[in-house]
Amino acid sequence: MSRRPISTSPAPQDDSQRAPKRQRLDHLTQESFRNGVFLAPMVRSGALPTRLMALKHGATLVWGPEIVDKAILHAEREVDPITGVISYNGKSRAMFTTHPLEKPYLIYQIGSADPELAVQAAKTVMQDVSGVDLNCGCPKPFSTHAGMGAALLSNPDLLCGILEALRRELPKEISVSAKIRLLPTQEETKKLVERIARTGVNAITIHCRTRNMRPRERALVERLREIIEFVHELGLDVAIVENGDCTGTADAQRVRELTGADSVMIATAAESNPSCFSLTPLQDVESTLVPSYLRLCKYLDNHWSSTKFCVTQFKGTRSELSKTDIHELKSKIAKAKRYEDVEEIIGSWTGEDEFREVMRAVETRPPRIPTGAEQEEAVEEEIPAPCSTPPDRVNPEPPSSGAPKMGLRMPLPAIITGSDMISPTPTPGGMR
Ligand SMILES: Cc1cc2nc3c(=O)[nH]c(=O)nc-3n(C[C@H](O)[C@H](O)[C@H](O)COP(=O)(O)O)c2cc1C
Repeated sequence: MSRRPISTSPAPQDDSQRAPKRQRLDHLTQESFRNGVFLAPMVRSGALPTRLMALKHGATLVWGPEIVDKAILHAEREVDPITGVISYNGKSRAMFTTHPLEKPYLIYQIGSADPELAVQAAKTVMQDVSGVDLNCGCPKPFSTHAGMGAALLSNPDLLCGILEALRRELPKEISVSAKIRLLPTQEETKKLVERIARTGVNAITIHCRTRNMRPRERALVERLREIIEFVHELGLDVAIVENGDCTGTADAQRVRELTGADSVMIATAAESNPSCFSLTPLQDVESTLVPSYLRLCKYLDNHWSSTKFCVTQFKGTRSELSKTDIHELKSKIAKAKRYEDVEEIIGSWTGEDEFREVMRAVETRPPRIPTGAEQEEAVEEEIPAPCSTPPDRVNPEPPSSGAPKMGLRMPLPAIITGSDMISPTPTPGGMR
């Protein structure tokens, strides 16, 4: 399928026509953690294609899955010259993959119980990320037995020691943050939050469940307002991010009003549907998100087992496919051993169009305009001229991936269209 080139405006001829300049921040500050809806760190589910999909659909920042400090230290960094994918390879597999496209929005999460190792781990990846986050909430034994994750909640000296070391040793362009859980009482939680805030972190995410609560128990969101008011009274400049039971960007507004949180972080709902960051999330995921996601993964050369795992977590609220078609689609994916086995579903495309669509959505996000104290740190950039159609061209380029409709080429499932159109992206300040 041939595509017309994207229309571009002619270059300005002289100084009087030159684009004006605006200020842009090229690193994260406290403000970057405000008025946002974030993709939570998720082991397995928070893979690179999911993070890119979340960004495409409006996630403000994305967290990578927790990676234990020692695991990344000896990884070998490799860049795919075609796709640009950056892999940190361990002996048998990639420990972490990322892409330059997500760097301005990417927070790398560390599992650690040692300040020196945490700093070394952060330094290993810092050229490819914008911030590092310390996991202080994982209650699983593999994390806590080594003193990491939720075990840090009962060892605040070590927890704060790690954050202080990260802040001291990393360049100021790399943000430092922590993700904790509620402690059993408000007093204990406030005390811990104050200590963490005084280490100089940019943000603290509070998962509104205690260490012993199961994921399916309702998050104790109503406890957060008192904690946030306490932080404000202390006059500490740290963003507080709510986490727990938020279903999407529309719901994030409710959560913020209830809690007073600066931003909201979403895990489970995004695992089921990474387009939940849009005000109009995709509902019919089998016909839209699944084929799009598979193509993107194929282009990025994402490990098939990871792709398969993530796709099988997707759930929509409504499907145009019959139950039989959905069942057939799922069993085809479940049986597939590689991308070629799902060509019936994704077609034989390389996925490049899909990636371009993501790139266009991410790159056209409005830049964050620096506020007050940030002005001095801002760099100037030219404001791109508005996209206009050159006089010799009749129609502007339509905003689609250009991928053929699936129904035209494949017998099963007939209704899948394979297009995951960009849904309206919430403006960065839209959650005030
Ligand atoms: C599949 C999965 C993997 C997770 N992995 C991590 C992780 O790597 N680091 C972390 O801090 N929390 C992790 N969590 C916890 C989430 O980030 C989040 O705190 C929790 O699910 C509550 O948010 P929710 O109510 O929106 O699901 C994970 C959760 C899920 C569902």
